[in-house]
Amino acid sequence: MRTLVVHYSRTGTTRALAHQLADALGADLEELRDPTPRRGLGGWLRCAMQARRGSLVPLAPLRHDPAAFALVVVGTPIWAGAVSSPVRTFLHHHRSHLRGLACFCTGGGESGDEVLAQLERLAGHDARAHLFVRASEAASEVTTRKIAAFVERLAAQDREILTPPPSAPRQDDAAERRH
Ligand SMILES: Cc1cc2nc3c(=O)[nH]c(=O)nc-3n(C[C@H](O)[C@H](O)[C@H](O)COP(=O)(O)O)c2cc1C
Repeated sequence: MRTLVVHYSRTGTTRALAHQLADALGADLEELRDPTPRRGLGGWLRCAMQARRGSLVPLAPLRHDPAAFALVVVGTPIWAGAVSSPVRTFLHHHRSHLRGLACFCTGGGESGDEVLAQLERLAGHDARAHLFVRASEAASEVTTRKIAAFVERLAAQDREILTPPPSAPRQDDAAERRH
C-alpha cells in the first residue's frame, strides 16, 4: 500500500520519529516547511499562541501529492496542548484528499491523547493507528516497541483487507449436496 509520512518538526524529535516510521513502513516522507520564525523565546511564544488560536500559516509547496497515497501518516509536535500550526494548515488544505489516515505526535508530557483526537477531527477521518512518543523517550527501547506495534497494527489491517471472506456456497452446489 502506498504510504506517505507527513510531519512538521521544530527541533528534530518528530522528524526523527517520522524517519523511523517511514523506514519501517517503506513509506515516502514529506516534511512540512514553514517560513515563520520559530527560534528563541519570540518563536516559542509565537508557536504557542498560533497553536492555541488554531491559526493557519504559510507553508512551502509540498513535494508529494497526498491524494496519490492510500495511507497518509500525519505527525506533529504538541504545542500548548494542541496540534502545531503547520500540521493544522496541512490538514485544512488536504483533508478532503486523504484516503486513509494514521497519526502520531511527540510531546514533553505524559499523554498525546488529546492531540491525537484533534488530528482526527482536523482530518475528518478516524485514524487506523495512533502513536504518542515522549520527547525524553524518543531514542529508547520503549519507542522502538511502540513503533513496532504501530506498524503491526497497520499491517494486520492490510492483511484483513486483502483476505477474502469465506465464500457462501453457490446455489447449484447447495442443490447438488441435497441430492
Ligand atoms: C510552543 C511549545 C509548546 C509546547 N507545549 C507542549 C504541551 O502542551 N505538551 C507537551 O507534552 N509538550 C509540549 N511541548 C514540547 C514539544 O511538544 C516536544 O518537545 C516535541 O517533541 C518537540 O518536537 P520537535 O522536536 O519535532 O519540534 C511544547 C513545545 C513548544 C515549542
